[in-house]
Amino acid sequence: MIELCSLNDIPDPGSIRVDKDGLRLVVVRIGDDVWAMNDRCTHAEASLAEGELWIEEREIECPRHGSTFDLDNGVPQSLPATQPAATYQVVVINGLVNIVVPG
Ligand code: FES
Repeated sequence: MIELCSLNDIPDPGSIRVDKDGLRLVVVRIGDDVWAMNDRCTHAEASLAEGELWIEEREIECPRHGSTFDLDNGVPQSLPATQPAATYQVVVINGLVNIVVPG
């Protein structure tokens, strides 16, 4: 596992960018739910952490061309992005947000 941040570091609801161990991630919080996804839009260069959070839909919108990505699986819900962004399993332990990394 990789420890990313404290749960309290993330606005509720909101998102932050975390650079850790060579990963560039957007970490999203809505209440007690937390997601982690690659912070690069799969369409072109843009930081999803700078995009708008769609709370009811549980999606985050790319600030550049407006594709929205499902927080659960990274699948784009609207064009122009067509490829999913990588997502990570999140585990919150004692108020610290961790991701599970394969291998
Ligand atoms: S860069 Fe994200 S939709 Fe184009």
